[in-house]
Amino acid sequence: MISKITSAEMAVQQEYMKKVAELNAQRAQPPVAHVHSFGCQQNVSDGEKIKGMLAMMGYGFSSSPEGADLVLFNTCAVRENAEDRVFGNLGALKKAKHQYPDMLIGICGCMVQQEHITQRIRRSFPHTDIIFGTHVLHTMPQIIYEAMTTRKRQISIPDCDGVIAEGIPLRRESTLKASIPIMYGCNNFCTYCIVPYVRGRERSRDAEDIIRECRELVQGGCKELLLLGQNVNSYGKNIGTSFSELLKRINDIDGEFRISYMTSHPKDATRELVDTIAECEKVTRHFHLPVQSGSSRILKQMNRGYTREQYLELIGYVRERLPDVALTSDIIVGFPGETYEDFCETLSLIKQVGYDSLFTFIYSPRKGTKAAEMPDPISAEEKGRWFRELLEVQQEIGCSSYRSYVGQTLRVLCEGEGRTDPSLLTGKSRQNIIVDFDGSKELIGSFVDVKITEALAWALKGKIV
Ligand code: 5AD
Ligand code: SF4
Repeated sequence: MISKITSAEMAVQQEYMKKVAELNAQRAQPPVAHVHSFGCQQNVSDGEKIKGMLAMMGYGFSSSPEGADLVLFNTCAVRENAEDRVFGNLGALKKAKHQYPDMLIGICGCMVQQEHITQRIRRSFPHTDIIFGTHVLHTMPQIIYEAMTTRKRQISIPDCDGVIAEGIPLRRESTLKASIPIMYGCNNFCTYCIVPYVRGRERSRDAEDIIRECRELVQGGCKELLLLGQNVNSYGKNIGTSFSELLKRINDIDGEFRISYMTSHPKDATRELVDTIAECEKVTRHFHLPVQSGSSRILKQMNRGYTREQYLELIGYVRERLPDVALTSDIIVGFPGETYEDFCETLSLIKQVGYDSLFTFIYSPRKGTKAAEMPDPISAEEKGRWFRELLEVQQEIGCSSYRSYVGQTLRVLCEGEGRTDPSLLTGKSRQNIIVDFDGSKELIGSFVDVKITEALAWALKGKIV
């Protein structure tokens, strides 16, 4: 069952925040926390809640675990390498915990929602003080209080379909760009994916709560609102509204700002949604439409709910209604049973679509998913070769798509100094493409028109007009 956390329950957590803050105030020095969020935007957004609660409890923050009083790993379970990194980081803290027994070490997020992972942590990482799952994030103050006062390991991983908790304090990563979760969980059960098992069933936040948050952000000077969900296209299904409706309402908020969204599922991206995006001038011209594979046979095995042809038809409509759109996608290479012929269909699809950029992954078996039980005869070396071939093909496509922007004038949200060249300014176009240009620092935080003069591998260069 999905439950909405009541304000009374949230008030209890507020009390725990105060209690921990009182304990922390007695320390000789203000305590420091190191929070590391792995994985997707949703997790980064959870990290902002974690930091928001910790700040209320009196913690400052450090970018390294060294010398921290509290270390918390907010984990990702989508692929094995993300999990391996967490185990590596956790193992590396064994010595520190031995030296400073008062230090608290915690692990939370998607990884610990899996029974076999929790067992491994209990067995092999006994220096872990706190373990809590995705559905009890809002109870973190209580968990930390208990860990501090009882000195006993705290484990909280209730098995449920998910919760919605409003009113958790936030410590946002940026004042210019804000992430706003609009829904949580996923019902799609793509056969390779662990997300539905670790994040629970699909559930949407109330539109009023989202609009209020967006309005406050815009009034506070925020210039980009990133609407987040595993599948934003199914927003509002159970509460009598829709993603299109939500976009229109946010678009109606006064001010110059952008609305972006992540992630769309192609099976739920309707023509009506594309029409809405075309009508809403504040919505970015960047459509991330993860295709995963160009082979209808593999798409069926993946339980994606569309064929290659249906996907291409959708892309055709997106290009027709949004001629200045940038398209990006996720691709999985080496899904169980994929043949080189299937892979070649992926190559032909990416050539046909002409993506601006791709997120590419080698298939990683996830325990408990259907695909993990499927025969997978292709060797890791072979998959590696296919993967490199994909990267080469995409590099060519990406470069030619970037070159097509040369000569155009793009509206750019100036975000700061250039990453590689601090004498330049950098920002993002409406297509979500990095644009570097010359200009004075006062422009940071505003929109400027930039004429593109040069296409680099991962960015564009231009001059303010
Ligand atoms: N193996 C490899 N890639 C995966 N993804 C999700 N699950 C797996 C997996 N088991 C990729 C998909 C998804 C992105 C977020 O991660 O491409 O769109
Ligand atoms: Fe995973 Fe598919 Fe849900 Fe995306 S839509 S989170 S890939 S199950």
